Amino acid sequence: MSYRIIFLPGDGVGREVTREGRKVLEAVSDHYGISFHCESYSCGGQYYLETGKECADEAFEDCKKADAVVLGAIGWPGATLPDGNLAGAGVVFGLRFGLDLYANVRPTKLYPGVRHRICNEFRQVWKPESVDFVIVRENTEGCYTPTRGFLKRGGITELAVDSRIITRKGCERVIRFAFKLCMNRKGAPKDGKRRVTCVDKSNVMNGCQLFRQVYDEIAPTYPVERDYSYIDAFTQWIIRNPEFYDVAVTSNMLGDIATDLASVLQGGMGMAASANIGDSHAMFEPVHGSAPKYAGQDKANPIASILSVQMMLSYLGEKKSDDRAKEAAGAVEKAVGSVLQRGKPLTYDLGGEARCSQVGDAVVEAIKQS
Ligand code: IPM
Ligand code: MG
Repeated sequence: MSYRIIFLPGDGVGREVTREGRKVLEAVSDHYGISFHCESYSCGGQYYLETGKECADEAFEDCKKADAVVLGAIGWPGATLPDGNLAGAGVVFGLRFGLDLYANVRPTKLYPGVRHRICNEFRQVWKPESVDFVIVRENTEGCYTPTRGFLKRGGITELAVDSRIITRKGCERVIRFAFKLCMNRKGAPKDGKRRVTCVDKSNVMNGCQLFRQVYDEIAPTYPVERDYSYIDAFTQWIIRNPEFYDVAVTSNMLGDIATDLASVLQGGMGMAASANIGDSHAMFEPVHGSAPKYAGQDKANPIASILSVQMMLSYLGEKKSDDRAKEAAGAVEKAVGSVLQRGKPLTYDLGGEARCSQVGDAVVEAIKQS
C-alpha cells in the first residue's frame, strides 16, 4: 500500500515533536514495507508573522487529497489576527470543519512506567491498567461554530455573544462513532464491561438535552452499558474512579476542557494523542499546544505526537483494510511502551533529562528490534 501524508508542523514545539513523529513513520515504512509519500507545509502563528497568511495557499487542497494529515501545534505569542483571534487557529478549524472531521478521539491511557501528574508530583496512585478510556469529543459544532460576535458602539465593545449550536445530525454521528469505537475495545478496566458514558450538562442546557435524547435513541442498538454523567461530576469521577470509564462521548467545548484534565491521569499533555476523524478524511495531532517557552530547545515530549502517528496507522489499517498498517500501529505502541517501561530516555515532564530527539530515536530503535 502507498499513502500520501501531509505534515503541518505549525508553531513552537509542534515543529520538534512532528519531526519525531515523522521519523517514526519513516522507520515503520522501512520495516513493514509501507510507502508513505510525505509533504510538509509551514503554517501557524509564526508563519503568519512572517508572511501575513496562516497557511500556504495550496496546503488545504493538498490536505483534502491526502490519506491523512499530521498536525503539530498552533499558536504563537503576538500572532493575532486583526479580528483578535489567534493566528493559526484557522488551520485547525479549517481542517476540522473543512474536512468535516466530526469525531475528535482522545485516548487517556496510563502506560506502565509513567506516573500521573496530579499535584505535579511524580506519585503513583493507580495501577497503570486502571486508566484506559477514550473521550470522543464532537468537533464540528457546539461553541465552535462561527455564530458569535461583538456589538460595538462608538468603538466600545458593549456586548459579546457566543451561540452554542447543537444539531441532531451532529449528535447522531458522533454518538454512533463512540458506540462503534466501544465495540472494538475490551471494556472498562474495572469490570471489563463495554460502556459509553454520555457527558453533558442536560440539567441546564437545551443543546445537552438534545444530545442526551439522541444518545438514548442510539444506545439500545448496541450491546453496551449506558452511563450518564454531568460534565461537572464527570471531572471529579475520572480522577476518583478512572477505571470505571471505557468510552465517553460529549459536545465540543465540554470535550476540550475534559481532555486537558484527563491528560494528567496519563502523565500530562506530553502523553495525550488525538485523532480528528470524518467519513472521508482524518487529521492527527497531539492535544498539547506549541509551548513557546520550550520552543527550539529539543526538550518537549514527542510521545503525544508519536502516538498520534500511531493512531493514524491504526486508522489507515482499518480504513484501507491494510494488515501491515495495523501491524505497524501495534509495533509503534509496543515500542513506545517499551521505552516508557525501561524508563529511559524520558523527557523532563516524565522525570527524565533526555532530549525530544533522543526519545524519538529510542522509539525508532525499539521498532527496528521488533
Ligand atoms: C484543542 C485546542 C484547540 C481547541 C485550540 C488550539 C483552538 O485546545 O485541540 O483541544 O480549542 O479545540
Ligand atoms: Mg484544548
